[in-house]
Amino acid sequence: MAKADKQAEKPVPSHVGIIMDGNGRWAQSRGLPRVAGHRAGTKNIRRVLEAAVDLGIKALTVYAFSTENWGRPRPEVMHLMRLISDGIRDELDELDARGVQIRHSGRMAGVSDYLQKQIRGAVERTKNNDTIILNVAFNYGGRAEIVDAIKHIVQEGIPADEVTEEVISRYLYTAGMPDPDLIIRTGGEYRLSNFLIWQAAYAEYYATPTFWPDFDAAELQRAIAVYQGRERRFGLIK
Ligand code: FPP
Repeated sequence: MAKADKQAEKPVPSHVGIIMDGNGRWAQSRGLPRVAGHRAGTKNIRRVLEAAVDLGIKALTVYAFSTENWGRPRPEVMHLMRLISDGIRDELDELDARGVQIRHSGRMAGVSDYLQKQIRGAVERTKNNDTIILNVAFNYGGRAEIVDAIKHIVQEGIPADEVTEEVISRYLYTAGMPDPDLIIRTGGEYRLSNFLIWQAAYAEYYATPTFWPDFDAAELQRAIAVYQGRERRFGLIK
């Protein structure tokens, strides 16, 4: 039995979040400019997305650009914007044909009009697809997301005593998606970096030293196997 088939017998996480770290170091370790790492990292999303579909994962959230990433040198920021724009241009037909539903989590403020239009177009075009959700956390910050949710709740005049965890979840960018069961961080650090801080309250966490461009199907299967060996208690006792 193939490893992917065997893993499907145990509960597979419905929603996996990935902090795609280590692109710069991947490139530097090869004597390449950092942006070459981001290019390789972008290509890797497709490989991991395919592996996720094979495993039966229903949603993948990838951390593509944080609200803090604007502070990086301008050429690197511009390059990341270009990669996302080119990625939508080059991959959208194929992703749509494969039934991938593209979602965006993040703010549009500060993003070029052109890229905003591309993102909205990709989300609109794929909104009825149901093979897997690819949620791109772009211009995303977990605290900013909670601030935006609270603003909407206040603007809509929801009375304070009706504000519950469910209501807040409904106003997050991820409304309608299940909370992540597993957060994977590549690149060897042990931080959440403002990623899905509300949604990942009870997620399992997996960190690997592997740099994101090298994180392949076998690495994803390893992460899922570790997840399957964990006992999730959600604050309860056994
Ligand atoms: C972290 O590596 C990676 C990023 C800040 C960017 C990740 C973005 C992509 C892979 C592009 C996404 C594209 C699409 C189409 C969704 P790092 O630069 O912090 O690496 P380092 O820690 O080694 O310096």
